Amino acid sequence: MQLSMLLHSPLVLALAIALPGMALAAPATLPAGHDSLEQRIKACTACHAQKERHDAFFPRIAGKPSGYLYNQLINFREGRRHYPMMNYMVEHLPDDYLREIADYFAAQHPAPPPAQPSSAGTAALARGRQLVLQGDSGKKIPACIACHGEKLAGVAPAIPGLLGLPRDYINAQLGAWKNGIRRAHAPDCMAQVAQRLSDADVGAVSAWLGTQVASADARPASGIALPLPLHCGGVPGSSAQVAP
Ligand code: HEC
Ligand code: HEC
Repeated sequence: MQLSMLLHSPLVLALAIALPGMALAAPATLPAGHDSLEQRIKACTACHAQKERHDAFFPRIAGKPSGYLYNQLINFREGRRHYPMMNYMVEHLPDDYLREIADYFAAQHPAPPPAQPSSAGTAALARGRQLVLQGDSGKKIPACIACHGEKLAGVAPAIPGLLGLPRDYINAQLGAWKNGIRRAHAPDCMAQVAQRLSDADVGAVSAWLGTQVASADARPASGIALPLPLHCGGVPGSSAQVAP
């Protein structure tokens, strides 16, 4: 419901009208000198502002590893992810252009947002914490930190951090993976992880993650022990492993 409200908001309508004439048009159609990176990213920061709203479905993109951001722009362009404004904006953009935008946002490091208080009970928060830090071997769920990094700050080049994202956004993404609406490069390890999480587990991990604050100097780790617990197609060097 919130998503459809978002889509009908005056902001989105204004953007939809303004965008065709803005710098996101294919580079060749732009008058010389009007294709600066600043102009391109103006169209993005309307929604992905430095101070992103914490109560909505807008993900933070600043500071995420460049390869991850690039993979997502490709995923929107190729229909593995669905959000009409995002699909529309990247529809005709070439790879090089998307890589440049990804590099730009990866290099930004605004202050992390504050924690999101949670009304989930103590038991749910403890379950969320357990899944993130230890996983649940009985349900074949690897610890989230085994891939997202010990500090949950992500791992370069292609695994995102999990702190500083709105709880509703995390919920929506895990739900979308469970339902096959969001897909990543195959083999899609996150789809497997999400399918092993019950709905209550999804609520628990997103609630607990929301209560955590990233440290101001948190940066994606430069590497992580391989092989990962599951094979992730979008992660260079990830390779097939015996099923856990
Ligand atoms: C109208 C608002 C809006 C605008 C404008 C917008 N985005 Fe988005 N973007 C979103 C929303 C909402 C999502 C999450 C969609 C979903 O649920 O998957 C998203 C997702 C993303 C993601 C994936 C983030 C992640 O953590 O997985 C990237 C990368 C991204 N946008 C980049 C951009 C760039 C680059 C631009 C400018 C060219 C842009 N966006 C403009 C609303 C917007
Ligand atoms: C086997 C490695 C692996 C494990 C384990 C794992 N993830 Fe992920 N996760 C990834 C990768 C790789 C991506 C990027 C996928 C893509 O390119 O879309 C990702 C993306 C995500 C995203 C999307 C972030 C965004 O900005 O849109 C969320 C949310 C997420 N993971 C949550 C979790 C949670 C919660 C757990 C633990 C229950 C977990 N992950 C365990 C590898 C893993």
